Order: sequence, then structure tokens, then C-alpha cells
Amino acid sequence: MDLTTGAALDLDDIQAGALFERPSPYVGAYLLLRIRDRHDGRKLVGRLHRILDAAAAGEALETSLTVAFTYRGLKALGVPQTSLDSFAPEFREGMAARAEILGDTGQSGPDHWEKPLGTADVHVAIAVLSSDQARLDEVAEKARRAHAELPGIDLIWRQDCYQLATGRTSFGFKDGIGQPAVEGSGRPATDSRERPLKAGEIFLGYPDESGEVAPVPVPEVLGRNGTYVVFRKLHTRVAAYRSYLRARAATRAEEDLLGAKIVGRWQSGAPLALSPDEDDAELGRDPHRNNDFRFGDDPRGFKCPVGSHARRANPRDALDQEGSVDVRLHRMIRRGTSYGPPLPDGVLEDDGAERGIIFVFAGAHLKRQFEFVKTQWLNDGIFIGAPRESDPLVGPHDEPGSFTIPQRPIRRRLQDLPPFVITRGGEYCFAPSLSALRWLAELDT
Ligand code: HEM
Repeated sequence: MDLTTGAALDLDDIQAGALFERPSPYVGAYLLLRIRDRHDGRKLVGRLHRILDAAAAGEALETSLTVAFTYRGLKALGVPQTSLDSFAPEFREGMAARAEILGDTGQSGPDHWEKPLGTADVHVAIAVLSSDQARLDEVAEKARRAHAELPGIDLIWRQDCYQLATGRTSFGFKDGIGQPAVEGSGRPATDSRERPLKAGEIFLGYPDESGEVAPVPVPEVLGRNGTYVVFRKLHTRVAAYRSYLRARAATRAEEDLLGAKIVGRWQSGAPLALSPDEDDAELGRDPHRNNDFRFGDDPRGFKCPVGSHARRANPRDALDQEGSVDVRLHRMIRRGTSYGPPLPDGVLEDDGAERGIIFVFAGAHLKRQFEFVKTQWLNDGIFIGAPRESDPLVGPHDEPGSFTIPQRPIRRRLQDLPPFVITRGGEYCFAPSLSALRWLAELDT
């Protein structure tokens, strides 16, 4: 029982990777596996379960591990069809099948995705994170040896990733700041006016914000304490982004301001809502202040544009007057990491390198959390009264986009926004509890 919130959350059974932020900085790798033989698949799951169980029992682990399965992965392990049918429809369909809805079209469409992302071969997704490269290599070597003993498992993709000590990602902005607190997690909210979310918003088997317990996949041991995980490899066109701003700003300071208006925060992480005119590095660094704000005193977005990325993704109290949308039903935990070499400061030419973010979402409701935010708030502008404007940073912009910056005496409108983010692929996964992993390892179908 969590004494701060009075809610019980079965922390010993939940994979910690979804719930807790990681030590920073870190290096890591995402691995995708294909299960050709269900018996080897179950052995693998048994081994992963033992590692996670040891970590949950308090055995010091120098690396953190998160394990998730696609629908096809659960099928490949031999999970019975009645059970498979009880998972959320979007999960069963998979991300590639949802591409049109999600705005993954044109260059971001599944036809252009990096293989094997979006194919039937992706069964297991593993994230391994370590505080340094030597530890990560050690784990990779152990995994390689274990893998050699399981010929029915193929390693089909590896993506190395990292988090810089500054927490900044490829466009130069500190990321991962705005996160909801979860009842029973023991972690206080960083936005002091946002009550912690009901546990059922993030984990299956608990009451959620609607007061209900959403249907849990059956049997209960498989579904309860699990969470859906979305991962997307998002290439960021950093040179295009920098050149776009350079062409529209008279000074470096104006470039920084336009960038901050686009994101809703300065590069340091300082929110425009608290520091509208200039960056404040100390505020950006301070976890007690950098997420503690509302938009209520800025309804028209003079400080933080209503169309900026972070305000769209979490409008906080900005929609309260409308009476129609409950923002609390559309929150999510994000666990993104960077990949690829940063583009050196000041470079405006594209060097052809792949770089960006592995965007990771964790939550109990794929449709009303990840998909809703992506489609209704990032890809569309109806909710902010600008139907033709999509998110200036991550909007699809198959057609050149625009972005309105409210200011006096007249607003400024950025035109011809190209796509700054291209989807390279992704998957919908399910991260089961530790008891579910044991159940999967012991399947005898
Ligand atoms: C390459 C793509 C993306 C980049 C570079 C990016 C970058 C950022 C940055 C710099 C912030 C502000 C710092 C923070 O609060 O953590 C942020 C916030 C956020 N982003 Fe993204 N983002 C990307 C894609 C997405 C997508 C696809 C979604 C959801 C579907 C999303 C959802 C959010 C949310 C929920 C917040 C927190 C807002 C808040 O609580 O204030 N982002 N993002």
C-alpha cells in the first residue's frame, strides 16, 4: 500500500522499465527477435523471467531490461487463440496496419519502413540499458551465448541507443520531462496541480480514470500488471529543421525563440509557460520546477503557442473550459531514447546520417492514449481551432504545413513547414508482468 496515495500497485510483479525513469546518462540497445520454435521461445522467456525476477527481488542489476511481445510473438509462443482474442484490437492489428490512421503515410509509410519493422517477423522486443558501454557489452556477450543455445530464436534487429547526460535529443531539446505520476508508484507528481493518474491508466487490472477496470486479457495472470508499449523509430531531419529556422530568424536569439515556440519549451527544458522571453537553464535543470505549470493564465498562447508540440501533447488545464475533453484520459508515460550521432552544433548541411529518437509509450489504452494524442492532437488542429495546422515539430506535413505564433500586435505565421520527423517503423507490444512471463515460459500447448 502506498502511503502517499492509499492505492496498492503490485510493484514486485510489474516490469520496472515502464514505470521508473532510468539513470542518466546511459547506453543501450533495442533488440528484436523472431521465434521460429515455440519451445525455444518459452526457454528464452524463462531466462528473461529469471533475470527480471532477480532484479525485482532486489539483486543489484547493473543493467535494466524490459521485455515485450507483439501479437504475433504471443502467437508464436503458443498462447491460445481465446486468450489472443482478448487483447486490445489495435494491438492485434499491429502498428503497420494502423499506419493510415496514425498519419504514417508518404515517406513515413510502412512501404518505406526499415525492415524488419512492421513485418510478421517481429515477435519479441527487448530493451537493455546500462550506465556504461563496458557493462552493456558484457550483457550483450551473455545474451549472445544464451542465444547460441536456442537455435529456434533469431536476432533480427539491433538498434543501439543512448541518453546524453544533458537529456537532450537530436533537435537539441531536453526531452522526457513531462510525465504523469501514477497512484501507488511512490513517485510524487512533478506538476503539483496534476493528481497522480489512477493505476489503471498505465497498468491492466486496476481501476482507471473512468472509474472502471478495463477488460484485462485472459487468463488474468497473463493480462494483469501488464502494459501496452508502443515503440517507433523516428528519424529527425535536424539539418532541415535548423535551416528552416535560420531562414526565418534575423539572429541566433530569434532562432532559439522560434524553436522554443515550436516545442513549447526552451532547449534547456525550461517551459515557455514559466519563462516566456528567454531560456532559463537553471529552471530547465530543476526537476521540482521544470514541469510545474499550467496554461490557464495564457489561454490564447502568447507565452506558449496552443499549437506547440508539448502543449498539444499535454494541454494540461487549457481545455478545461471546453468541458468536452478530459485530458487525464489521454496521458502517457514516455521512455524515449536517442539513436545516431548528434549533428555537430551549427551544421546546416545534411550529412546523410540516420539520427533521431526511439519513441516509447507505455499505457493501458493504446487507442485513447497514444493513438488519440497522435491523431487528434498532433496530426490535427481542430481542437485548437486551426484545422489545417498539425504539430510543427512532429506533424506529418506531407503537404507543407503552417504554425501560428500568437503575438502582439499581430500574430506570426510560419509557412511551408516541411516534415522534420520521418517514421522509420515501429510496433505495438505488450509488456507482461513477471507472473505472466512465468506463465508464458510454462505454456504447454
Ligand atoms: C521525433 C519525434 C519527437 C520529438 C523530437 C519530441 C520532442 C519532445 C520534446 C522536446 C518535448 C518537451 C520536453 C518534455 O516535456 O519531455 C516533448 C514532450 C512531449 N511529447 Fe514529444 N517528441 C516527439 C514525438 C512525440 C510523439 C509521437 C508523441 C505522442 C504521440 C509525443 C508526446 C509528447 C508528450 C506527451 C510530451 C509531454 C508534454 C507535457 O507533459 O508537457 N512526442 N516531446
